[in-house]
Amino acid sequence: MENREPILQVRHLRQYFGRKDFKAVDDVSFDVYQGEVFGIVGESGCGKTTTGRAIIKLYNITGGEVFFKGQRISAGPRDFTDAIAAERKATAQRIEDLKKAGDSAGVQAEKQKLKAFIAEQKKAMEEARRDQKDCNKLYRERREKEIKEEYAKKLQGVSGDQKHALEHERDKLLHEAAHENLVTRMQMVFQDPISSLNPRMTVREIIAEGLRIQGIKDEKYINEQVYQMLEMVGLVREHADRYPHEFSGGQRQRIGIARAIIMKPDLIIADEPVSALDVSIQAQVINLLNNLRKEMGLTIVFIAHDLSVVKYFSDRIAVMYFGKMVELAGSDELFAHPMHPYTRSLLSAIPLPDPDYEQRRKRIVYQPALAHDYSKEGPTFREILPGHFVSCNSVEFERYKKEFGI
Ligand SMILES: Nc1ncnc2c1ncn2[C@@H]1O[C@H](COP(=O)(O)OP(=O)(O)OP(=O)(O)O)[C@@H](O)[C@H]1O
Ligand SMILES: [Mg+2]
Repeated sequence: MENREPILQVRHLRQYFGRKDFKAVDDVSFDVYQGEVFGIVGESGCGKTTTGRAIIKLYNITGGEVFFKGQRISAGPRDFTDAIAAERKATAQRIEDLKKAGDSAGVQAEKQKLKAFIAEQKKAMEEARRDQKDCNKLYRERREKEIKEEYAKKLQGVSGDQKHALEHERDKLLHEAAHENLVTRMQMVFQDPISSLNPRMTVREIIAEGLRIQGIKDEKYINEQVYQMLEMVGLVREHADRYPHEFSGGQRQRIGIARAIIMKPDLIIADEPVSALDVSIQAQVINLLNNLRKEMGLTIVFIAHDLSVVKYFSDRIAVMYFGKMVELAGSDELFAHPMHPYTRSLLSAIPLPDPDYEQRRKRIVYQPALAHDYSKEGPTFREILPGHFVSCNSVEFERYKKEFGI
């Protein structure tokens, strides 16, 4: 898995709300590899939906960066303003000391240094703003350049029909690249299949909306696409002219999936797509997503509040607790070696169809104040085994290693 290209890179993502900076997501980092299912679990309110919405640019992120297909699509300003504030404070302290020592040349030098630092940060902030705003255009330009370079190499010493064929191939790719809309290559399937579908729109209108927003007007093409998507998600074309309320929960979620896949996404963020559904329907929707993943080569970020749903479906699983990521590992590894006490508490909540196990199963309640002593050293996100990360301090790190014989 590690050798694969990450399609999505989330770096120190922060999403704060309101004047008081409520930290819905606080310094979360992870990569998602091409073709995998990446599960995110955690209890209600821990910031799963906010993470998904921040990734697909429904918010201006507070801090950190998001890269999609190698292109920076979001970068928050707070990292720079924080850095400036910290540097101002440190400089003020140094200046005070220098003044006491009567070193006026030193004071001037500090002031100059601070000025240069601020200018540098502001430049980086400007670049962040540009990437955030113009990511589609920048990605198009990058792709065009890459294609031209690639084909310049391929065309060296080639002539005749072979040359024509290559040029034709190149021009086709360039045409596609010129019309590429990077941000629509990420789509979200929303948590609530009822409120996320406009009740006054027909299924046809709902599914076609993204194409229309892109400026596509060819009605025949749009209708064909709508029918094709309906069939792909296990509905039929006769459903196109009905309204969302005429469908069951599972069917509505299929409509939500059709609306997403019509944009030919590379990445789908499925936000608790089955938690509102009956258990019997849940497996159907998960199977549908899994089939689409294979057919369309999709990468899926699958959000759930319960580990049992993501276990069989996810290649890797990230566990979130109150805006932070506390553990991240391959699916089997996480179940075999759960280290963070919050992960253990989530695992202890999963019932198994084994009466003996059920008799012995003790629910572990996670109480952060009792589970950790962070008075001397706070936690950081550390790689304890290759690909297995856990939020811990040095003492915990050593303890986990011992416990698991690492
Ligand atoms: N637009 C907003 N303004 C202010 N606070 C918000 C906003 N959106 C989310 N929050 C808060 O951020 C926290 C995380 O919310 P989020 O919806 O991401 O949680 P979640 O993990 O998806 O929970 P659930 O499992 O219930 O869907 C919550 O405390 C929520 O109240
Ligand atoms: Mg949510």
